Parts: sequence; structure tokens; C-alpha cells
Amino acid sequence: MTVPTDAAYASMLDARDPLASFRERFVITDPDLIYMDGNSLGRLPKATISLAEDLLHRQWGTRLIRSWNEGWFTAPERVGAKIAALIGAQPDEVIVADSTSVNLFKLVVATLRMQRGRSRILTDNLNFPSDLYVLQGAIDLLDKQHQIEIVASHDGIYGPTAELEAHLDAQTALLTLSHTVFKSGYTYDMSSMTEAAHKVGSLVLWDLSHSVGSVPMNVNTAQVDLAIGCTYKYLNGGPGAPAFLYIRRDLQERLSNPITGWMGQKNLFQFESEYQPAVSLRSFLTGTAPIVSLSLIESGVDLLLEAGLDNLRVKSEQQSEYLIALWEAMLEPLGFSLNSPRDVQQRGSHISLGHAEGLRIDLTLLNDMNVLPDFRAPDNIRLGIAPLYTSFRDIHTTVMRLRQIVVERLYEKYSNETPTVT
Ligand SMILES: Cc1ncc(COP(=O)(O)O)c(C=O)c1O
Repeated sequence: MTVPTDAAYASMLDARDPLASFRERFVITDPDLIYMDGNSLGRLPKATISLAEDLLHRQWGTRLIRSWNEGWFTAPERVGAKIAALIGAQPDEVIVADSTSVNLFKLVVATLRMQRGRSRILTDNLNFPSDLYVLQGAIDLLDKQHQIEIVASHDGIYGPTAELEAHLDAQTALLTLSHTVFKSGYTYDMSSMTEAAHKVGSLVLWDLSHSVGSVPMNVNTAQVDLAIGCTYKYLNGGPGAPAFLYIRRDLQERLSNPITGWMGQKNLFQFESEYQPAVSLRSFLTGTAPIVSLSLIESGVDLLLEAGLDNLRVKSEQQSEYLIALWEAMLEPLGFSLNSPRDVQQRGSHISLGHAEGLRIDLTLLNDMNVLPDFRAPDNIRLGIAPLYTSFRDIHTTVMRLRQIVVERLYEKYSNETPTVT
């Protein structure tokens, strides 16, 4: 695809964008800052500020302990039900709790205990490292009776689907993958991988952190068993906001939360000594929910539901295609590579561009050019497209600034030392 490379064309695309007004629903204090980091930390919705004020002044300040019966106690399910609508689950199949890593741990241990006689967890090397660490921890806890098989991608971009399918067998207890992988943005076909795993009796657990709120999906139609995901990326839930977990309804009573606590207890206010799990997804709760950060997730989710995920996906596809067309015209000749799938159907909502000077270019972009991307080693400049607020002008300006940094060798003033958070 070729596109005009002038700024006027980007402005014309913005003028025609039916979702453009959603940008005004976010806090934008520096209109010149180009925020391309949607898939590490989404922007702050304006509605979250009013929600926070109500939460602090009225709910906590005035209503005090009474607020537990006025919405706090049920917040994990209430917000979970809204997230369920984003992933194609039933309202009682998703609950908000803990972090993504802790939820993964709970679900993996529960699965391995249920899948007796099966000794293997299958995954790939595109998975998020924390997920791999969690798998190792779960195996240690269960006395090292299981092994992890990590299938390698050929090129670090595409998921090794055929190899994964070939490794599935009667020993596989669990197949776990990132739906959209964090570096390249490659997005697995959820239905076909789930079906392949089910054929050998394996359960499937998807990490939806990079796809929830950006890629339409239907976990029910795909017959997905388990899923987890974070809320601070495309859901705009805020830094460190709690994560969610999904368990298909018919599995809920067969799986037991390994981190038992009073919030998962059947009749918790009877304060009995013996643990009896709640007969709902609440059994996967452990302790008291972090009500402040949990409550603030809701306004970001509401914005996504109002805009409609299918509409957002149309814009995300247009924007990532536009970015790739600009890359081809303006950046590829300067040594930038496309480290994401070319086929839009195989991509989430971020694009990674590689360059031999990737880190130094990234540092120039964020320190001197007022553009905030992510950087993922070894050379990925990761550009997150969040269609609720990313404009075509943002994408155009980012490409022009990347070009300028290389043409004028502006990156040379930086060393290759990695900052703490990239
Ligand atoms: C794909 C993926 N999985 C898991 C995690 C870990 O999430 P948490 O820090 O909430 O445990 C992240 C964090 O960015 C992630 O991107």
C-alpha cells in the first residue's frame, strides 16, 4: 500500500475519523506530546478523575465502612462483568483480582492439580517472561513433577503454530500463550489453537494483556478454558491496577484456588475455621480487594464499551496499515525493519520497528522529540496504537521524527546504556 506522506493527508484522515472525539475524553496536558505507549500504560480518562473524587470524598470520606455494602464488596464481579463483555465471556466468568502474574499462578497450579497424569506445560518463547517465571514457580511448588516445553519462533515475530500443534500430546496438561505477543504484536488465532489443544485433552490459558480492549475476541465461541490479563494497557485502568481472570463456567467448580483466603470463602462473615470455597468465581479471590485502584478501572472500560470494540478495531487496522505504509516509504530506506507481521489479521494494535541503533533512537525520541514509545530489547521501538486517542497526525509526526533522528544522526549523543524502565 502506498499513501501520501504529507501531514495534510494525516489531518484529512483525522477529520474523517468517526472516533476522533473520544480523544477529548482523556487528560492531555501537553498537546505537543505524542503518546505511543498505549500498550504499557494507557492514558488517564477524564471520567476517572471524577470517579476518584467520588471514591475518596464520598465513598471513603463520608460513607466510610458503609461503602462495603454500597458497591465495594461486589466491585471485583461488577468490573469483571464489564471486562467479560470485551472478551466475549459471560458476566460471571470474569473477576478482577491481584496482578496478572498472581492470577496466572493460581490458574496454572489449579490446572496442574486437576490434570492428573499429565506432566507438561507447552508455551512459546514469545510469551511474556513473567509468565515463564510463574510457570517455573508453579512447577517448583508442585515438587517438580512437571516440565515446561518452550517452542521457539522461527524469527521472533510469528508464533510457531505448526510446531506447537506438533508438540501437543496426551502428556500436555496446559497450553499457555500470549494472545497478542508483547514484542512483535503477532496475534494467535485463538479458536484454532484452542481446538488443537482440546483434541489432546489439554486445557488452554490465554494471556490477554496485549489484546484485551484492542482486539475483538470471543472466548466463549472459541471455547477457551482460562484467561488472564492486565487492565493498565488498552483498558486505561491506571498504573498497577489489578488484573482479571476468566474461567469457563463449567470449569469453575472443578478448579481450586491454591491461594485460599477469606475473600474466597463461602460464607465469609460466619468466620468459620475451615475453608470452604465460594460457589462462584469469588472462590478465586484471596484477600481484600484494592478498592481504590480496582474502582478506577471502570471508567476506562466504559469508554471502550461506548466506542465499541469492532469500531475501534477498524480504526486500529487503518492506523497500523498507515504506519506500515509510512515506514515503507520513509523509514525502511534508512535501515528500519518491520518487526511485526505484515498481515493485519495477524497483528494486535502495536507495531515494532527494529534498527541497529534502536535503543539510541528510542532515547532521542523520548528525550528530545517529545514522542513516548516503548523499547523492547534487543532493538524494538514499540509503537502502541490506542484508537480511543491515537490520531493519524500522531503517527505521521512519529515517523517524521524517527526519520529526522536517523538522517541527522541525532542519536549519536546517547550511549547504549539501558534505562531502568523502558
Ligand atoms: C503479556 C503480559 N503478561 C503478564 C504481565 C505481567 O503483569 P503483572 O505485572 O500485572 O503481573 C505483563 C506486564 O506488562 C504483560 O505484558
